[in-house]
Amino acid sequence: MPVTPVLTRRWNTPESWTIDTYRRLDGYLALRTALAGDPDDLIKLVKDSGLRGRGGAGFPTGMKWGFIPQGDGKPHYLVINADEGEPGTCKDAPLMKADPHSLIEGIIIAAYAVRASRAFVYLRGELIHAARRMRAAVDEAYAAGFLGRDILGSGFDLDLVVHSGAGAYICGEETALLDSLEGRRGQPRLRPPFPATHGLYASPTVVNNVETIASVPFIVNYGADWFRSMGREKSPGPKIYSLSGHVTRPGQYEAPMGTTLRELLEIAGGVRGGRKLKAWTPGGSSTPMLTADHLDAPLDFEGMQEAGSLLGTAALMIMDETTEMLPVVRRLTEFYAHESCGKCTPCREGTSWMVKILERIEDGRGDAEDVDTLVDACDNIFGRAFCALADGATSPIVSGIKYFRDEFIPVSAVTTRTAGPDGTVGTPEPNTSPDGAYAGAH
Ligand SMILES: Cc1cc2nc3c(=O)[nH]c(=O)nc-3n(C[C@H](O)[C@H](O)[C@H](O)COP(=O)(O)O)c2cc1C
Ligand code: SF4
Repeated sequence: MPVTPVLTRRWNTPESWTIDTYRRLDGYLALRTALAGDPDDLIKLVKDSGLRGRGGAGFPTGMKWGFIPQGDGKPHYLVINADEGEPGTCKDAPLMKADPHSLIEGIIIAAYAVRASRAFVYLRGELIHAARRMRAAVDEAYAAGFLGRDILGSGFDLDLVVHSGAGAYICGEETALLDSLEGRRGQPRLRPPFPATHGLYASPTVVNNVETIASVPFIVNYGADWFRSMGREKSPGPKIYSLSGHVTRPGQYEAPMGTTLRELLEIAGGVRGGRKLKAWTPGGSSTPMLTADHLDAPLDFEGMQEAGSLLGTAALMIMDETTEMLPVVRRLTEFYAHESCGKCTPCREGTSWMVKILERIEDGRGDAEDVDTLVDACDNIFGRAFCALADGATSPIVSGIKYFRDEFIPVSAVTTRTAGPDGTVGTPEPNTSPDGAYAGAH
């Protein structure tokens, strides 16, 4: 499959993170074009390109920018979500390390479009190296006159602050991120009002993912039609796919939206050791797992929905045939129980109870109803909690049971202890129910 890198094309250049390298490779040309035009034309251009958010939900970026009220007299803010806490997701940190100026150039253009004079990059606390690169690049951009007062003589001012969080997954949820940025404990806010009108410091705010904003200079340089020439109609453009787990060459692979896992595996050397694929996540642990039957499903927002999952962050965690599903699902559920911010009951209580159930099945202490209890708990959590963390917590369990139900049936449920007519309990016998499941709970 021929692939011409766009977003990652500078990554292998020596010292790709310096402003000199960036400028030598067409860097900051888009900024000059953008500042010479009208901010509303930029919003239209991004709308026309069909760019959709790369942070998980795929919201149209130009439309989001268009929601920012104009002439309201309030300060406007642009906030870049670089929290990247979703298990399996590892594209934004490499982007910031290898090509921080593409993000900074995108930020200046986006801030100009939404009339923001202050922007923030909110990085997860653990991303120390990426934060260092970002700060050094911001200093370079100030020194070159791309940030600060009267940028390139346009009259436009922008200050950019790089802020490191403390390493909580929930701070990737955009409203929890805003609370954290304001110095409070990161917990999701009730919506409405939305960040477009009441975001950071109760002012109009755009929150966008790193990869989303790093795509913008390319759109300004080459146009909306060029962007739409890659990918699929409703999900155009290039995309960074992160392959991890049981794959021969894990890493970041850039390809057009709608590329399939079969094609990506071809480039990445296939499943480790030539083994068979058992399961995979299309977009991190909060997206329902798929199987080898879905190798040819297009990896874009629509394609993944049709396959019964979500594109999420395009973090493909590959599990080969040696993988035991129960420990995988238990471990992921532990993650959600640990990261639940505790604000609402279904998530706070539900995730930790689901861990307990999964642990006892794994330890051989489960009973016949446990699988149904898990599914029922997920039904009661999905769509009933305050934010999407809880929905994501149900994905590994529901999809794991959907495709690998047998692996979740407790050992004790496939044997029965039958009481005889005298009420005494005999030796365990194999379960002989027709469907092989649940008969004879102890
Ligand atoms: C629990 C949780 C964690 C999230 N983590 C991130 C993250 O690390 N990075 C990100 O860009 N979006 C994350 N999101 C999505 C953001 O809320 C938001 O939709 C996104 O930053 C918008 O940017 P985009 O439109 O460019 O995709 C998360 C959402 C939830 C519910
Ligand atoms: S769903 Fe979970 S993470 Fe989200 S607000 Fe409720 S308790 Fe917090």
